Amino acid sequence: MCAIKDDAPSSELSLYEQLLAGNRAFVKETLEKDPLYFETLAKGQKPPVLWIGCADSRVPANQITHTKPGEVFVHRNIANMVVHSDMNMLSVLDYAVNILEVQHVIVCGHYGCGGVIAALGNVENGIVDNWLRHIKDVYRLHAVELDAITDEKQKADRLVELNVIENVNNLTATSIVQKAWKNGKNLHVHGWVYTLNTGFIKDLKVSFSNNSNVDAVFKIK
Ligand code: CO
Repeated sequence: MCAIKDDAPSSELSLYEQLLAGNRAFVKETLEKDPLYFETLAKGQKPPVLWIGCADSRVPANQITHTKPGEVFVHRNIANMVVHSDMNMLSVLDYAVNILEVQHVIVCGHYGCGGVIAALGNVENGIVDNWLRHIKDVYRLHAVELDAITDEKQKADRLVELNVIENVNNLTATSIVQKAWKNGKNLHVHGWVYTLNTGFIKDLKVSFSNNSNVDAVFKIK
């Protein structure tokens, strides 16, 4: 698709029209490569992976992992959070684990995350502050380490990593993952961070396939 622009002269397409024109170009190009593409994809999905990522427009799950539509089930919110009372996330996770039977759930954050940077500050941003408070909780858990980092960028980068690690922990503590492991399901959870200015993903090596790392209080036996 062409790069969209909002300042097109009246003779050109508006941003809104550019999106629809982009869609028509997408259909045309796709059908040229594979005339049965849409027919095949419409039959159903069986993605092996659930992606929990940031809503940031620069971190699209499929593009950065070189995967195609149908291969990754995706949930995105501000700062890739796993919040136990979030019905949206829980519904996606339950459907992914119990109906689609994904084998991997990946929490993917990214350096330069606006949500994490905002959570580090003390200014009022409106309703989003209630969401960002979960990241402040991550800060509080790791305050000794984070307080010792004087460089603001390094501090934000580390909080991005810790936020992913804590959200992987949150994921393992959900009733859905606990029940899956209790029932012997083959389910792996992982934590990654995407680097905007290189395109590379860093594996934080916080992959779990069982209860061994889960605090006793969260375990379902
Ligand atoms: Co972000």
